[in-house]
Amino acid sequence: IDHFSANKDFKGKKVLITSGPTQEAIDPVRFISNHSSGKMGAAIADAFASRGAEVHLILGVGAKKPKHSSIKIYPVKSASEMYQAASNIHSQMDICVFAAAVADYAPKEIAAEKIKKEGEGMTIELVKNVDIAYTLGKAKKFDQIHVGFALETENEVFHAKQKLEKKNFDLIVLNSMKEKGAGFQLDTNKVSMFFEDGSSLQSEVLPKEEIANLILEGIKKLPVKI
Ligand code: CTP
Ligand code: CA
Repeated sequence: IDHFSANKDFKGKKVLITSGPTQEAIDPVRFISNHSSGKMGAAIADAFASRGAEVHLILGVGAKKPKHSSIKIYPVKSASEMYQAASNIHSQMDICVFAAAVADYAPKEIAAEKIKKEGEGMTIELVKNVDIAYTLGKAKKFDQIHVGFALETENEVFHAKQKLEKKNFDLIVLNSMKEKGAGFQLDTNKVSMFFEDGSSLQSEVLPKEEIANLILEGIKKLPVKI
């Protein structure tokens, strides 16, 4: 029995969530990655599961795992693996939440052997990764909902709204970087949500579990798609 939410208001909904960092291999022992903890993605997965949804979580290496045992986890490493896993199931999903911190670039070539230290400097050539949210946003059907995230250090609202439009999101969640108690690794967060219709909502600094439920409330505010 789930003691925390008798309210199964997402029952019957299939939800795809990408979460955590991606790892882009340089050689057999090294990679490029980022500081994402996956805590926000895990909290969103648990919130959906406890509210009755069927949750499919595509999880980067080292990302926090959710508590609910009903959640189906797809472990991935690189952005291209994350894209493959997401695109395999995308068409069957009702709601997609792109919470992963996907590396924007990956090494052009993965060295077969450990790269040896030589010379006083070195250069690694990088190539752009697939944009998972953008690519699946182009395939989004009229009855699907896409939710994106943004983390910006300047012109935050402008950039978030630009991503909302460019990636065909219904809703974008902007993580506040400047706020104490918000961001990577922490258990609390402060967000603003921008909706496709131009409206917006702001949260206080709250535990990520409560932020997750606020995001689900935001999703419920979206126009019903029939
Ligand atoms: N995203 C994605 N695939 C990528 C890059 C980003 O799915 N290759 C998703 C993220 O999960 C997030 C949204 O797109 O939901 C915005 O990510 P962000 O890194 O802020 O956007 P970028 O388009 O990569 O722009 P930039 O990093 O230059 O600000
Ligand atoms: Ca990026």
